[in-house]
Amino acid sequence: MRMVDLIEKKRDGHELTAEEIHFIIHGYTEGSIPDYQVSALMMAIVFRGMTERERADLTKAMVESGDQIDLSQIEGIKVDKHSTGGVGDTTTLVLGPLAAAAGVPIAKMSGRGLGHTGGTIDKLESIKGFHVEIDNEEFIDLVNKNKIAVIGQSGNLTPADKKLYALRDVTGTVESIPLIASSIMSKKIAAGADAIVLDVKTGAGAFMKTLEDSRELAQAMVQIGNSVGRKTMAVISDMNQPLGFAIGNALEVKEAIDTLKGRGPQDLTELCLTLGSHMVYLAEKADSLDEARTMLENAIKNGTALEKFKEFLSSQGGDASIVDHPEKLPQANYIFELEAKEDGYIAEITADEVGTAAMLLGAGRATKESVIDLAVGLILRKKIGDKVKKGEPLVTIYSNFENINEVKQMLYENIKITSEKVTAPTLIYEEIME
Ligand code: URA
Ligand code: CA
Repeated sequence: MRMVDLIEKKRDGHELTAEEIHFIIHGYTEGSIPDYQVSALMMAIVFRGMTERERADLTKAMVESGDQIDLSQIEGIKVDKHSTGGVGDTTTLVLGPLAAAAGVPIAKMSGRGLGHTGGTIDKLESIKGFHVEIDNEEFIDLVNKNKIAVIGQSGNLTPADKKLYALRDVTGTVESIPLIASSIMSKKIAAGADAIVLDVKTGAGAFMKTLEDSRELAQAMVQIGNSVGRKTMAVISDMNQPLGFAIGNALEVKEAIDTLKGRGPQDLTELCLTLGSHMVYLAEKADSLDEARTMLENAIKNGTALEKFKEFLSSQGGDASIVDHPEKLPQANYIFELEAKEDGYIAEITADEVGTAAMLLGAGRATKESVIDLAVGLILRKKIGDKVKKGEPLVTIYSNFENINEVKQMLYENIKITSEKVTAPTLIYEEIME
Protein backbone atom coordinates (compact mmCIF):
# COMPACT_ATOMS: atom_id res chain seq x y z
CA MET A 1 0.00 0.00 0.00
CA ARG A 2 1.22 3.49 -0.79
CA MET A 3 0.06 6.46 1.22
CA VAL A 4 -0.09 8.72 -1.84
CA ASP A 5 -2.67 6.43 -3.47
CA LEU A 6 -4.85 6.60 -0.36
CA ILE A 7 -4.64 10.41 -0.27
CA GLU A 8 -5.74 10.50 -3.93
CA LYS A 9 -8.52 8.02 -3.26
CA LYS A 10 -9.98 10.19 -0.50
CA ARG A 11 -9.33 13.37 -2.48
CA ASP A 12 -11.48 11.97 -5.29
CA GLY A 13 -14.31 11.13 -2.93
CA HIS A 14 -13.93 7.36 -2.54
CA GLU A 15 -14.33 5.27 0.58
CA LEU A 16 -11.24 3.92 2.36
CA THR A 17 -11.31 0.28 3.47
CA ALA A 18 -10.71 -0.85 7.07
CA GLU A 19 -7.27 -2.19 6.02
CA GLU A 20 -6.33 1.11 4.42
CA ILE A 21 -7.38 3.10 7.49
CA HIS A 22 -5.44 0.74 9.74
CA PHE A 23 -2.36 1.10 7.51
CA ILE A 24 -2.54 4.91 7.76
CA ILE A 25 -3.06 5.11 11.53
CA HIS A 26 -0.52 2.42 12.34
CA GLY A 27 2.07 3.96 9.99
CA TYR A 28 1.54 7.44 11.33
CA THR A 29 1.79 6.36 14.97
CA GLU A 30 5.03 4.44 14.45
CA GLY A 31 6.52 7.21 12.28
CA SER A 32 6.73 5.52 8.87
CA ILE A 33 4.18 7.92 7.34
CA PRO A 34 5.23 11.59 7.57
CA ASP A 35 3.19 14.57 8.79
CA TYR A 36 2.88 16.11 5.34
CA GLN A 37 1.09 13.11 3.87
CA VAL A 38 -1.25 12.82 6.84
CA SER A 39 -1.93 16.57 6.63
CA ALA A 40 -2.99 16.17 3.01
CA LEU A 41 -5.24 13.26 3.93
CA MET A 42 -6.81 15.19 6.82
CA MET A 43 -7.60 18.08 4.47
CA ALA A 44 -9.16 15.66 1.99
CA ILE A 45 -11.34 14.30 4.83
CA VAL A 46 -12.37 17.87 5.81
CA PHE A 47 -13.73 18.32 2.25
CA ARG A 48 -14.93 14.81 1.43
CA GLY A 49 -16.10 13.56 4.82
CA MET A 50 -16.24 9.92 5.86
CA THR A 51 -18.98 7.30 5.77
CA GLU A 52 -20.37 5.82 8.97
CA ARG A 53 -18.27 2.71 8.40
CA GLU A 54 -15.06 4.67 7.80
CA ARG A 55 -15.60 6.66 11.02
CA ALA A 56 -16.00 3.49 13.04
CA ASP A 57 -12.89 1.96 11.45
CA LEU A 58 -10.88 5.14 12.07
CA THR A 59 -11.96 5.14 15.71
CA LYS A 60 -11.06 1.45 16.13
CA ALA A 61 -7.63 2.01 14.57
CA MET A 62 -6.95 4.88 16.97
CA VAL A 63 -8.11 2.82 19.98
CA GLU A 64 -5.75 0.02 18.90
CA SER A 65 -2.80 2.42 18.55
CA GLY A 66 -2.21 2.30 22.33
CA ASP A 67 -3.21 0.78 25.65
CA GLN A 68 -6.83 0.01 26.51
CA ILE A 69 -8.07 0.05 30.07
CA ASP A 70 -9.50 -3.25 31.23
CA LEU A 71 -12.40 -2.71 33.62
CA SER A 72 -13.71 -6.27 33.40
CA GLN A 73 -12.90 -6.91 37.08
CA ILE A 74 -15.53 -4.34 38.04
CA GLU A 75 -19.01 -5.75 38.56
CA GLY A 76 -21.90 -4.34 36.56
CA ILE A 77 -22.24 -2.13 33.52
CA LYS A 78 -19.64 0.63 33.78
CA VAL A 79 -20.93 3.96 32.50
CA ASP A 80 -18.82 6.95 31.54
CA LYS A 81 -19.92 10.49 30.82
CA HIS A 82 -18.22 12.91 28.49
CA SER A 83 -18.86 16.57 27.86
CA THR A 84 -17.62 18.26 24.70
CA GLY A 85 -16.46 21.09 26.90
CA GLY A 86 -18.07 24.05 28.47
CA VAL A 87 -17.45 26.86 30.90
CA GLY A 88 -18.07 26.24 34.58
CA ASP A 89 -19.26 22.73 33.79
CA THR A 90 -19.56 21.16 37.22
CA THR A 91 -21.64 18.17 36.07
CA THR A 92 -18.98 15.48 36.57
CA LEU A 93 -18.53 16.37 40.25
CA VAL A 94 -22.26 16.03 40.82
CA LEU A 95 -22.98 13.11 38.51
CA GLY A 96 -20.27 10.81 39.83
CA PRO A 97 -21.63 10.50 43.38
CA LEU A 98 -25.24 10.88 42.24
CA ALA A 99 -25.14 8.01 39.73
CA ALA A 100 -22.99 5.91 42.11
CA ALA A 101 -25.65 6.38 44.82
CA ALA A 102 -28.12 4.80 42.37
CA GLY A 103 -25.77 1.81 41.98
CA VAL A 104 -24.03 2.75 38.72
CA PRO A 105 -20.33 1.80 38.74
CA ILE A 106 -18.33 4.95 37.96
CA ALA A 107 -14.70 4.20 37.06
CA LYS A 108 -13.52 7.61 35.97
CA MET A 109 -10.22 8.44 34.37
CA SER A 110 -9.81 12.16 34.38
CA GLY A 111 -7.42 14.87 33.32
CA ARG A 112 -6.29 18.35 34.18
CA GLY A 113 -7.84 21.29 32.44
CA LEU A 114 -6.40 23.68 29.88
CA GLY A 115 -8.07 27.07 29.38
CA HIS A 116 -11.09 28.39 31.30
CA THR A 117 -10.99 26.45 34.57
CA GLY A 118 -9.34 23.29 35.73
CA GLY A 119 -10.41 19.78 34.84
CA THR A 120 -12.20 17.47 37.25
CA ILE A 121 -8.92 16.48 38.92
CA ASP A 122 -7.91 20.09 39.56
CA LYS A 123 -11.31 20.75 41.10
CA LEU A 124 -11.08 17.69 43.36
CA GLU A 125 -7.55 18.65 44.39
CA SER A 126 -8.96 21.81 45.97
CA ILE A 127 -10.05 19.34 48.69
CA LYS A 128 -7.23 18.83 51.18
CA GLY A 129 -5.58 15.42 50.91
CA PHE A 130 -7.53 14.20 47.90
CA HIS A 131 -5.34 12.40 45.39
CA VAL A 132 -5.79 10.44 42.19
CA GLU A 133 -2.40 8.71 42.25
CA ILE A 134 -3.79 5.27 42.96
CA ASP A 135 -2.81 2.07 41.19
CA ASN A 136 -5.14 0.10 38.95
CA GLU A 137 -5.80 -2.57 41.56
CA GLU A 138 -6.84 -0.04 44.19
CA PHE A 139 -8.93 1.79 41.59
CA ILE A 140 -10.86 -1.38 40.72
CA ASP A 141 -11.29 -2.33 44.40
CA LEU A 142 -12.66 1.10 45.20
CA VAL A 143 -15.21 1.01 42.39
CA ASN A 144 -16.34 -2.47 43.46
CA LYS A 145 -16.66 -1.32 47.06
CA ASN A 146 -18.01 2.26 46.71
CA LYS A 147 -19.22 2.33 43.07
CA ILE A 148 -17.00 5.31 42.40
CA ALA A 149 -13.31 6.19 42.04
CA VAL A 150 -11.28 8.64 39.99
CA ILE A 151 -7.81 7.89 38.66
CA GLY A 152 -5.39 10.21 36.83
CA GLN A 153 -4.62 9.59 33.18
CA SER A 154 -2.26 6.66 33.04
CA GLY A 155 -0.76 4.50 30.37
CA ASN A 156 -0.36 5.28 26.74
CA LEU A 157 -3.96 5.81 25.59
CA THR A 158 -4.66 6.59 21.92
CA PRO A 159 -1.21 7.89 20.89
CA ALA A 160 -2.56 8.15 17.32
CA ASP A 161 -5.12 10.68 18.48
CA LYS A 162 -2.53 12.75 20.35
CA LYS A 163 -0.36 12.97 17.25
CA LEU A 164 -3.28 13.59 14.89
CA TYR A 165 -4.94 16.21 17.07
CA ALA A 166 -1.68 18.18 17.34
CA LEU A 167 -1.24 17.98 13.56
CA ARG A 168 -4.85 19.01 12.86
CA ASP A 169 -4.46 21.95 15.21
CA VAL A 170 -1.77 23.51 13.00
CA THR A 171 -3.10 22.48 9.58
CA GLY A 172 -6.62 23.91 9.71
CA THR A 173 -8.19 20.47 9.92
CA VAL A 174 -9.82 20.40 13.35
CA GLU A 175 -13.26 21.38 12.01
CA SER A 176 -14.45 18.08 10.60
CA ILE A 177 -17.25 16.11 12.20
CA PRO A 178 -15.84 12.63 11.38
CA LEU A 179 -12.43 13.66 12.74
CA ILE A 180 -13.78 15.25 15.91
CA ALA A 181 -16.19 12.36 16.56
CA SER A 182 -13.53 9.67 16.11
CA SER A 183 -11.01 11.62 18.20
CA ILE A 184 -13.36 11.98 21.17
CA MET A 185 -14.79 8.46 20.92
CA SER A 186 -11.39 6.78 20.60
CA LYS A 187 -10.40 8.19 24.00
CA LYS A 188 -13.68 7.17 25.63
CA ILE A 189 -13.56 3.65 24.19
CA ALA A 190 -9.92 3.12 25.21
CA ALA A 191 -10.88 4.20 28.75
CA GLY A 192 -12.91 1.00 29.02
CA ALA A 193 -16.52 1.81 29.96
CA ASP A 194 -19.36 -0.39 28.67
CA ALA A 195 -21.74 2.50 28.10
CA ILE A 196 -21.20 6.18 27.33
CA VAL A 197 -23.43 9.20 27.90
CA LEU A 198 -22.35 12.23 25.88
CA ASP A 199 -23.17 15.83 26.72
CA VAL A 200 -22.76 17.70 23.46
CA LYS A 201 -22.73 21.43 24.09
CA THR A 202 -24.22 23.88 21.65
CA GLY A 203 -24.14 27.65 21.40
CA ALA A 204 -21.79 30.62 21.55
CA GLY A 205 -19.51 29.11 24.23
CA ALA A 206 -19.34 25.65 22.65
CA PHE A 207 -17.18 23.98 20.06
CA MET A 208 -20.30 23.58 17.91
CA LYS A 209 -22.12 26.89 17.59
CA THR A 210 -25.28 25.72 15.82
CA LEU A 211 -27.85 23.09 16.72
CA GLU A 212 -27.45 21.45 13.27
CA ASP A 213 -23.69 20.96 13.74
CA SER A 214 -24.15 19.78 17.31
CA ARG A 215 -26.74 17.24 16.19
CA GLU A 216 -24.51 15.95 13.44
CA LEU A 217 -21.59 15.55 15.86
CA ALA A 218 -23.82 13.85 18.43
CA GLN A 219 -25.19 11.40 15.86
CA ALA A 220 -21.70 10.62 14.57
CA MET A 221 -20.44 9.82 18.09
CA VAL A 222 -23.51 7.78 19.03
CA GLN A 223 -23.17 5.71 15.84
CA ILE A 224 -19.46 5.10 16.47
CA GLY A 225 -20.05 4.00 20.07
CA ASN A 226 -22.88 1.66 19.22
CA SER A 227 -21.06 0.17 16.23
CA VAL A 228 -18.11 -0.86 18.42
CA GLY A 229 -20.40 -2.41 21.02
CA ARG A 230 -20.58 0.37 23.62
CA LYS A 231 -24.11 1.52 24.37
CA THR A 232 -23.96 5.24 23.60
CA MET A 233 -26.42 8.15 23.70
CA ALA A 234 -26.09 11.93 23.59
CA VAL A 235 -27.85 14.91 25.10
CA ILE A 236 -27.50 18.27 23.33
CA SER A 237 -27.38 21.00 25.96
CA ASP A 238 -26.98 24.75 26.00
CA MET A 239 -23.66 26.59 26.26
CA ASN A 240 -24.84 30.07 25.30
CA GLN A 241 -24.03 31.00 28.88
CA PRO A 242 -21.98 29.23 31.58
CA LEU A 243 -23.70 26.35 33.36
CA GLY A 244 -24.70 27.04 36.96
CA PHE A 245 -23.32 30.08 38.77
CA ALA A 246 -19.77 29.11 39.75
CA ILE A 247 -16.68 29.25 37.50
CA GLY A 248 -13.50 28.35 39.36
CA ASN A 249 -12.20 25.24 41.05
CA ALA A 250 -13.09 25.42 44.77
CA LEU A 251 -16.15 27.49 43.89
CA GLU A 252 -17.37 24.69 41.64
CA VAL A 253 -16.76 22.09 44.34
CA LYS A 254 -18.96 24.15 46.64
CA GLU A 255 -21.57 24.41 43.87
CA ALA A 256 -21.48 20.64 43.37
CA ILE A 257 -22.02 20.11 47.11
CA ASP A 258 -24.98 22.52 47.06
CA THR A 259 -26.44 20.62 44.13
CA LEU A 260 -26.04 17.26 45.89
CA LYS A 261 -27.84 18.86 48.84
CA GLY A 262 -30.74 19.83 46.54
CA ARG A 263 -29.92 23.54 46.68
CA GLY A 264 -27.94 23.91 43.49
CA PRO A 265 -28.57 26.12 40.47
CA GLN A 266 -31.66 25.05 38.56
CA ASP A 267 -29.88 24.51 35.20
CA LEU A 268 -27.03 22.46 36.66
CA THR A 269 -29.49 20.34 38.66
CA GLU A 270 -31.72 19.68 35.67
CA LEU A 271 -28.82 18.76 33.38
CA CYS A 272 -27.40 16.38 36.02
CA LEU A 273 -30.79 14.70 36.47
CA THR A 274 -31.17 14.28 32.70
CA LEU A 275 -27.67 12.93 32.07
CA GLY A 276 -27.83 10.87 35.26
CA SER A 277 -31.14 9.26 34.27
CA HIS A 278 -29.56 8.03 31.05
CA MET A 279 -26.56 6.69 32.99
CA VAL A 280 -28.81 4.78 35.39
CA TYR A 281 -30.91 3.45 32.52
CA LEU A 282 -27.91 2.34 30.44
CA ALA A 283 -26.46 0.64 33.55
CA GLU A 284 -29.77 -1.28 33.76
CA LYS A 285 -30.43 -0.05 37.29
CA ALA A 286 -33.91 1.15 36.23
CA ASP A 287 -36.45 -0.05 33.68
CA SER A 288 -37.35 3.38 32.40
CA LEU A 289 -35.94 6.90 32.32
CA ASP A 290 -38.74 8.06 34.62
CA GLU A 291 -37.86 5.44 37.19
CA ALA A 292 -34.18 6.39 36.87
CA ARG A 293 -34.94 10.04 37.45
CA THR A 294 -37.02 9.28 40.55
CA MET A 295 -34.12 7.23 41.96
CA LEU A 296 -31.77 10.19 41.50
CA GLU A 297 -34.22 12.72 42.94
CA ASN A 298 -34.61 10.46 45.97
CA ALA A 299 -30.84 10.10 46.37
CA ILE A 300 -30.63 13.89 46.63
CA LYS A 301 -33.63 14.19 48.97
CA ASN A 302 -32.63 11.43 51.38
CA GLY A 303 -28.95 12.42 51.52
CA THR A 304 -27.46 9.23 50.03
CA ALA A 305 -25.87 11.14 47.13
CA LEU A 306 -24.15 13.48 49.57
CA GLU A 307 -23.01 10.53 51.75
CA LYS A 308 -21.62 8.89 48.60
CA PHE A 309 -19.62 12.04 47.86
CA LYS A 310 -18.14 12.01 51.40
CA GLU A 311 -17.28 8.33 51.14
CA PHE A 312 -15.63 8.90 47.76
CA LEU A 313 -13.54 11.81 49.08
CA SER A 314 -12.32 10.02 52.19
CA SER A 315 -11.53 6.81 50.25
CA GLN A 316 -9.06 8.81 48.18
CA GLY A 317 -7.52 10.67 51.11
CA GLY A 318 -9.70 13.78 50.92
CA ASP A 319 -11.04 15.75 53.88
CA ALA A 320 -14.77 14.94 53.71
CA SER A 321 -15.57 17.49 56.40
CA ILE A 322 -15.51 20.18 53.66
CA VAL A 323 -18.97 18.92 52.68
CA ASP A 324 -20.43 20.27 55.92
CA HIS A 325 -17.81 23.01 56.24
CA PRO A 326 -17.18 24.43 52.75
CA GLU A 327 -15.31 27.34 54.38
CA LYS A 328 -12.41 24.86 54.68
CA LEU A 329 -11.98 24.99 50.88
CA PRO A 330 -9.29 27.36 49.59
CA GLN A 331 -10.49 30.95 50.04
CA ALA A 332 -9.58 34.03 47.98
CA ASN A 333 -8.15 37.13 49.69
CA TYR A 334 -10.41 39.61 47.95
CA ILE A 335 -14.10 39.57 47.07
CA PHE A 336 -15.46 42.18 44.67
CA GLU A 337 -18.95 42.77 43.28
CA LEU A 338 -19.37 43.75 39.66
CA GLU A 339 -22.35 46.09 39.67
CA ALA A 340 -24.81 46.62 36.83
CA LYS A 341 -24.43 50.00 35.17
CA GLU A 342 -28.06 50.17 34.03
CA ASP A 343 -31.55 48.72 34.51
CA GLY A 344 -32.81 46.04 32.13
CA TYR A 345 -32.67 42.35 31.32
CA ILE A 346 -29.61 40.15 30.86
CA ALA A 347 -29.37 39.40 27.15
CA GLU A 348 -25.96 37.74 26.85
CA ILE A 349 -23.31 36.16 29.08
CA THR A 350 -20.69 35.05 26.57
CA ALA A 351 -19.49 31.78 28.08
CA ASP A 352 -16.07 31.73 26.40
CA GLU A 353 -15.08 35.23 27.42
CA VAL A 354 -16.43 34.91 30.94
CA GLY A 355 -14.39 31.70 31.20
CA THR A 356 -11.32 33.59 29.99
CA ALA A 357 -11.95 36.25 32.66
CA ALA A 358 -11.84 33.47 35.28
CA MET A 359 -8.61 32.22 33.73
CA LEU A 360 -7.06 35.69 34.03
CA LEU A 361 -7.79 35.54 37.76
CA GLY A 362 -5.76 32.33 37.82
CA ALA A 363 -8.58 29.74 37.82
CA GLY A 364 -7.44 28.16 34.54
CA ARG A 365 -4.23 27.34 32.74
CA ALA A 366 -2.99 29.48 29.88
CA THR A 367 -0.37 26.82 29.12
CA LYS A 368 0.08 23.23 30.32
CA GLU A 369 2.78 24.43 32.74
CA SER A 370 0.69 27.15 34.44
CA VAL A 371 -0.06 26.70 38.12
CA ILE A 372 -3.71 27.32 38.88
CA ASP A 373 -5.13 29.15 41.85
CA LEU A 374 -7.84 26.88 43.24
CA ALA A 375 -9.50 29.60 45.35
CA VAL A 376 -10.32 32.16 42.68
CA GLY A 377 -13.11 32.54 40.15
CA LEU A 378 -16.53 33.99 39.54
CA ILE A 379 -20.05 33.51 40.83
CA LEU A 380 -22.69 34.73 38.41
CA ARG A 381 -25.47 36.53 40.24
CA LYS A 382 -27.66 36.80 37.16
CA LYS A 383 -28.37 34.57 34.19
CA ILE A 384 -29.80 35.30 30.73
CA GLY A 385 -33.40 36.53 30.99
CA ASP A 386 -33.06 37.83 34.58
CA LYS A 387 -34.20 41.34 35.40
CA VAL A 388 -31.50 43.60 36.79
CA LYS A 389 -31.43 47.03 38.45
CA LYS A 390 -28.60 49.54 38.22
CA GLY A 391 -26.15 48.93 41.09
CA GLU A 392 -27.21 45.29 41.65
CA PRO A 393 -24.39 42.70 41.57
CA LEU A 394 -23.95 40.90 38.25
CA VAL A 395 -20.96 38.80 39.27
CA THR A 396 -19.06 38.22 42.51
CA ILE A 397 -15.33 38.08 41.79
CA TYR A 398 -13.03 36.00 44.02
CA SER A 399 -9.45 37.11 43.49
CA ASN A 400 -6.01 37.01 45.01
CA PHE A 401 -5.05 40.18 43.10
CA GLU A 402 -6.18 43.55 44.33
CA ASN A 403 -6.21 45.13 40.88
CA ILE A 404 -8.72 43.39 38.64
CA ASN A 405 -9.62 46.19 36.22
CA GLU A 406 -8.90 44.04 33.17
CA VAL A 407 -11.18 41.28 34.44
CA LYS A 408 -13.95 43.73 35.26
CA GLN A 409 -13.75 45.32 31.85
CA MET A 410 -13.87 41.94 30.17
CA LEU A 411 -16.96 40.98 32.16
CA TYR A 412 -18.73 44.27 31.39
CA GLU A 413 -18.04 43.75 27.69
CA ASN A 414 -19.45 40.23 27.75
CA ILE A 415 -22.50 40.59 29.94
CA LYS A 416 -25.01 42.50 27.85
CA ILE A 417 -28.07 44.23 29.29
CA THR A 418 -31.02 45.32 27.12
CA SER A 419 -34.22 47.19 27.88
CA GLU A 420 -36.51 44.60 26.25
CA LYS A 421 -37.58 41.44 28.04
CA VAL A 422 -35.39 38.43 27.17
CA THR A 423 -36.37 34.76 27.39
CA ALA A 424 -33.92 32.34 28.99
CA PRO A 425 -32.32 29.90 26.50
CA THR A 426 -33.52 26.30 26.29
CA LEU A 427 -31.31 24.06 28.46
CA ILE A 428 -31.77 20.69 26.77
CA TYR A 429 -32.43 20.66 23.06
CA GLU A 430 -32.41 17.00 22.09
CA GLU A 431 -31.64 13.48 23.23
CA ILE A 432 -30.06 11.31 20.55
CA MET A 433 -30.13 7.53 20.78
CA GLU A 434 -28.99 6.56 17.26
N1 URA B 1 -11.82 17.42 21.14
C1 URA B 1 -11.16 16.29 20.85
O1 URA B 1 -10.82 15.52 21.75
N2 URA B 1 -10.85 16.02 19.58
C2 URA B 1 -11.18 16.84 18.57
O2 URA B 1 -10.88 16.53 17.42
C3 URA B 1 -11.87 18.03 18.87
C4 URA B 1 -12.18 18.28 20.17
CA1 CA C 1 -20.77 26.01 37.31
